[in-house]
Order: sequence, then structure tokens, then C-alpha cells
Amino acid sequence: MPAPGRPHPRGSGAARSADSRGARGRGVRGGRPGSSAGAGDGEDVLSHMCRERNEQGEFFSDQEITQHSTFLLFAAHDTTTSVLSHMVMYLGGRPEYQEVLRQECMALNSDELEHNDLDKLPEFERCFEEVMRLHPPVPMSMRRTIRETELGGHRVPANTLLFMPTCYNQRDPQYWTNPDEFDPSRFADPRNEHKNHSYCYHPFGGGAHKCIGMHFALMLSKCFIFHLLRNYAVATPPNYSPALDWVPIPKPADGVPITLTAINA
Ligand code: HEM
Repeated sequence: MPAPGRPHPRGSGAARSADSRGARGRGVRGGRPGSSAGAGDGEDVLSHMCRERNEQGEFFSDQEITQHSTFLLFAAHDTTTSVLSHMVMYLGGRPEYQEVLRQECMALNSDELEHNDLDKLPEFERCFEEVMRLHPPVPMSMRRTIRETELGGHRVPANTLLFMPTCYNQRDPQYWTNPDEFDPSRFADPRNEHKNHSYCYHPFGGGAHKCIGMHFALMLSKCFIFHLLRNYAVATPPNYSPALDWVPIPKPADGVPITLTAINA
């Protein structure tokens, strides 16, 4: 619900404003609604969307393009920001563990995170997975049944809205040891708790609509943490335990106050 005074209604307002600008013909395609003129031959996502046609051979309307672009911005940026905010929150209160990740980054012996080195950060990956287990940026997915079906012995009529609670499945004590504890080693051999059930861990969803940006999000997060930890020690206030927001996207409610101390300064 876009309750007043929260970021959600501000975002909805901005989306409406983008929609109306498009609808007035000064939109994404340089003022020629219904044609691809103005899209150019760029290789960015927006240019591709402007040139794309639907099953009927028509270009997408300006409104469809602004809505898809807004969705993509949300799907890509807000989710990655959510996981990185929580990760900084955990690392800030765990200097020893932070040092483990820093040493993993330092061991690459490079000022930049090269493409070939992306797979050489296994401890980072476990940390990333654990943070998304505890605080899935998309805490719940929705689906509508298109025909009658049965789920766990329950008859589900056609056209029923179903919620898949990622946030509960990923803390279900049936599959996870001490589920509320931050413990990245649960993702390592021999524990591999995420393999206890094919859907006990699904921060990126599953099936036909599984996240298309999951590898990109991991890459982006590695770059961010790589540069952060190589250059700074991160600390949160003593006994820091913030209230957590769940809407419009999970994040520490106070924005995570941190102290950055330059390394080798
Ligand atoms: C940590 C970061 C991310 C998380 C946790 C995440 C999570 C998800 C989840 C759970 C879904 C499935 C939603 C559903 O089934 O209803 C999804 C879909 C999607 N994600 Fe992500 N996502 C992340 C990053 C990204 C990035 C970086 C991009 C783009 C560059 C992206 C683009 C999309 C798109 C376009 C879809 C819709 C796919 C479809 O409907 O076929 N996501 N994401």
C-alpha cells in the first residue's frame, strides 16, 4: 500500500509523472509515439525496448516502455542496494569476519576486480548468500493459478492468488540450523543447507520468471565490496541492532550509520 509519508508513494508519483510525459508525446522515442524513431541504434536496454515489437508486430507504447524501464530500475537497483545495505550492516559489527573477506580480496593482488577473478571470492559468495537468506530483497513472490490444482494436499481453485513466502522458507528450521543466526558457513561443504530442499533457498525466484539479473547482481556486489574492503574498515555503532524495514523493500530502517576508516592511511 502506498501509505503517505513513505518512499513508496513518492516512487509511484514519479512513475505516474514519467507515464504522463510519455503519453503526451514527449516520451522516450523523441515525440513520435508508435514509431521507433528516436530510439537510434544504441545497444542499451532502453534503445532495445524502443525498437522491439510485440506479437502483433507493433512497437510498445511509450507508457509500456516507461513502465518496463521503471520496473527494471527497481528490479535491478533496489534489490542489489537492499542486499548490500544488509551486508554492510553485518560486516560493520563483525570486524574479524570482515577481515576474512578483506584478505580474500587482497589475495587477488590487484587494484581492480578483473573479470577472470570474479570466481575467486568464495567466502564473499557465502556471505552474499547468507545475507539474502536472512533478508531476501524480494521477501515474497506472487502467482495466480490458471487452472485448478493441488498443492500439499490442498485443492486450489483456478484464478487463486498464491504467495510464496521466501522470507519464511529461508528460515524454516526444518531445513536450516539455527535459522535466525548469521552463519555463512551453512552454505559451505559439507553442510550445504541450501540443498536440503530445491525450494528452501530461492532469493532469485524460480521457474520461467526466475531473475534474469542474478549473475549481474552478484558481479556488481562483488565489485562494491571489493573496493570498499580494500580501502576502508567499516564499523557500525557498538551493539548496533536497527529496526528493519520490509516495505517497499527490506533494509535497515535507519540507513546504516557507519564509520569508515581508511586502510593504510
Ligand atoms: C540481489 C539482487 C536481486 C534479487 C534478490 C532479485 C530477485 C528477483 C526475484 C525473486 C525475481 C522473480 C520475481 C517473481 O518470480 O515474481 C526477479 C525477477 C526479475 N529480476 Fe531480479 N533480482 C535481483 C537483481 C536483478 C538485476 C540486477 C536485474 C537486472 C539487471 C534484475 C532483473 C529482473 C527482471 C527483469 C525480472 C523479471 C523476470 C521475469 O519476469 O521473467 N534483477 N528478481
